[in-house]
Amino acid sequence: MSKFTIKLWVLCSALLLAFQTQADLNQQYKLLETIQTNPQTLIESAKQGEEKASLCGFCHGVDGNTKRDFIPNLAGQNAKYLINQFEQFASGKRKNYVMSQLADKLSLEERVNLAIHFSQQEAKPFVPKKPNKKLADASSQNGQTEFQAKCQMCHGVKAEGWDQLPRLASQPAEYLMKTLNKFKTDHRDRNQSPMTSIAKQLTDQEIRDIAVFLSGLQ
Ligand code: HEC
Ligand code: HEC
Repeated sequence: MSKFTIKLWVLCSALLLAFQTQADLNQQYKLLETIQTNPQTLIESAKQGEEKASLCGFCHGVDGNTKRDFIPNLAGQNAKYLINQFEQFASGKRKNYVMSQLADKLSLEERVNLAIHFSQQEAKPFVPKKPNKKLADASSQNGQTEFQAKCQMCHGVKAEGWDQLPRLASQPAEYLMKTLNKFKTDHRDRNQSPMTSIAKQLTDQEIRDIAVFLSGLQ
């Protein structure tokens, strides 16, 4: 094969994957909408999601409240955002060994049921067993001021999010710092995001302040 043929082949595969990802997402959003319009199907779907949630419990908690500070809460997260991010693992955009394996094993319907189950759980602020040393000099007060000025117009006054915008309240500070740094450094897991230009304007101190403020928010 010539270099040109190889390049063309790589480009076509990437395009096909992007189309497939979008098609899968559209199918799941449509299913979510249909389920949400009927109280009975909503209850049934949440129940089926709860049954599958044992697959996630070891890391995210069966009720979606995380067991580790580097793993995000799923509790109270918006269903559409959960579906979207799960698809990012399925397509290989976001990389995490277990998450990608799970994405392959679950049908689109099962993923929607899981998203509905977790979105209905109550999120509780994460309390680490030992204080996080990185946060020794962080100021929740400054974090609040920063959040109000730079983040709440998209993520909501209480950082509750909406539609595809994620809830940030109660996420563990470690996960928030790790993720904001991924946005800031164009990490391949999370590049080409509306968050990139926002995170690039934050200093390391501001990231710590915002993380400590959000992690304590109910
Ligand atoms: C072995 C641990 C493990 C298991 C089991 C696991 N996850 Fe995860 N999950 C993670 C980690 C770690 C991350 C964060 C990866 C990163 O930093 O990008 C994550 C991220 C996610 C995210 C993205 C959330 C966000 O805020 O962006 C979703 C959605 C998710 N997991 C859903 C699930 C579901 C649903 C299950 C069960 C079917 C599951 N996970 C099982 C470890 C796990
Ligand atoms: C213009 C709207 C907008 C503003 C302003 C904004 N965000 Fe975001 N944010 C988004 C969108 C959209 C996503 C989801 C897209 C993605 O994950 O790439 C997101 C995702 C995130 C995530 C990932 C959540 C997760 O569960 O993985 C974090 C953390 C975050 N934002 C923090 C912040 C902080 C802190 C600020 C203020 C300094 C901020 N955002 C300002 C739109 C915004």
